Amino acid sequence: MKCTIFSNGRLALFALAITQFSPILAHPSIVERGSPIALGAAKTYGAIAATTLTSTGNTRITGDCGTCPGTSITGFLPGVCTGTTSAGGKAACAAEAACLSAYNNARGLASTATALPSSDLAGLALAPGVYKFPTAAATNSATLTLNGAKNTMGQFIFLIDTTLTTAGSSKVVLINGAQACNVYFIVGSSATIGESSAMTGNILAHTSIGLTNAASNKGTLCALNGAVTLINNSLTAQTVCSS
Ligand SMILES: *[C@@H]1O[C@H](CO)[C@@H](O)[C@H](O)[C@H]1NC(C)=O
Repeated sequence: MKCTIFSNGRLALFALAITQFSPILAHPSIVERGSPIALGAAKTYGAIAATTLTSTGNTRITGDCGTCPGTSITGFLPGVCTGTTSAGGKAACAAEAACLSAYNNARGLASTATALPSSDLAGLALAPGVYKFPTAAATNSATLTLNGAKNTMGQFIFLIDTTLTTAGSSKVVLINGAQACNVYFIVGSSATIGESSAMTGNILAHTSIGLTNAASNKGTLCALNGAVTLINNSLTAQTVCSS
């Protein structure tokens, strides 16, 4: 095997003769699951808030629900939380702590990708990596495609300094082995998910998270200092991340 270190410090591996038994080499720009970001105790949660967790209408959370240090969880029923509900309990506090640790780890990451054309993610197809947004990011009623490039362990980490906003009917779609458990929106202020948006990924917001009518998510919503507010939403925690 030949290894070359480029002047920018990146290590490139040129593979040797491929045999049936060759080990699979990870491409250096691909961020692997759990390294550095893992959700730990929070991964079984559909939604966890610091202050209040409020639902209006027929929200369904497949997974756990909680608040810490707040203790107010309202709207269940008619909302449904299929897992454990922890209002200020030990389980919720462990989940909040896990979210904070994932958030802080992510904040320390360097960008692995060239700058995107704008802060609008709509219509883009991206490979695993760390993508930085000096201000806000949005998906404008269109689809963001995350391409796992056949690496099911590749992580997609969006480091957004201020807000994440999706317009109505926005979508995040996974292809080629990408997994929702490996998608992270790290939001420096608050996230607002538009009506009927179909989101995929863990949304970790410094302040609060609001989903409008009929939006859905696969992953965990973590509000680190504020509320999670839901209206007729469908949330599914990604408890299993396959390798
Ligand atoms: C929730 O969904 C029901 C049924 O579709 C709808 O009638 C209601 O207006 C929705 N609630 C809100 C606040 O949008």
